[in-house]
Amino acid sequence: MLPHPPLTEHYPTLAAKPAFVNRLFDAGAKHYDGVVDWGFLCSGSYYRRWVQRRHGLKPGLRVLDVACGTGLVAVEAARILGGAENITCLDPSEGMLAEARKKLAATFVLGRAEEMPFPAESFDFLTMGYALRHVTSLEETFREYHRVLRPGGKVLILEVTKPSGRLGRALFHLYFGRIYPALTQLFTRSREARDMMKYYWETMDACVPPEVVLQALQAAGFREVQRLPMLGLFSEYSAVR
Ligand SMILES: C[S@@+](CC[C@H](N)C(=O)[O-])C[C@H]1O[C@@H](n2cnc3c(N)ncnc32)[C@H](O)[C@@H]1O
Repeated sequence: MLPHPPLTEHYPTLAAKPAFVNRLFDAGAKHYDGVVDWGFLCSGSYYRRWVQRRHGLKPGLRVLDVACGTGLVAVEAARILGGAENITCLDPSEGMLAEARKKLAATFVLGRAEEMPFPAESFDFLTMGYALRHVTSLEETFREYHRVLRPGGKVLILEVTKPSGRLGRALFHLYFGRIYPALTQLFTRSREARDMMKYYWETMDACVPPEVVLQALQAAGFREVQRLPMLGLFSEYSAVR
């Protein structure tokens, strides 16, 4: 199951998607933090910390942050844990990892969610922030999550989800589809940053509905699978191995 149909105006086949996504994030990496900071009204750090705490992150747990990007989720995890020595960050973009390395002394690994270079049952708490749309297979990704978590370990996936009402959808389209990419270009004067946020929007718009994500988590063998919607815009998917 794909998180969204292939966006063939960007890559001709699904096999070409990872290389396209990598180029996009490598090129936009140095702008990412600034753009998501004002784009989400400076709420990102607080929210990323609050959500991890609410879902049970506490000192002593071994954490894997998949699709760590510039480290926005992992930095907040480190604040909760009191340090980064128990945190492993995985991402396929060298550019994004380079930004993350400047912020915290975690273990950084180049790799993709669908095929992770970790032994079975290595982690207690697995996070993925705003990146599920970029994988090539939900089944493979969740099979890997199930494999690397210890029994009783928790997965927490954060996503932006298209609102269900007509007005909400229209505003969502206007802001993320038009205003956000245009302001990104204006503020950063970077075509790469604008392209990154334009693609961000296209994948949100094309994304499968939450029920599909929940079913895929269940099919991978997770229990206590649930989605907590937040402000009609964010989804917190959680499940227990
Ligand atoms: C929008 S950023 C999210 C960064 C960060 N987690 C956050 O909360 O802001 C998406 C990240 O997903 C990464 N990514 C893309 N494809 C991936 C894959 N197949 N597996 C893991 N990460 C992937 C990208 O390199 C990028 O760093």
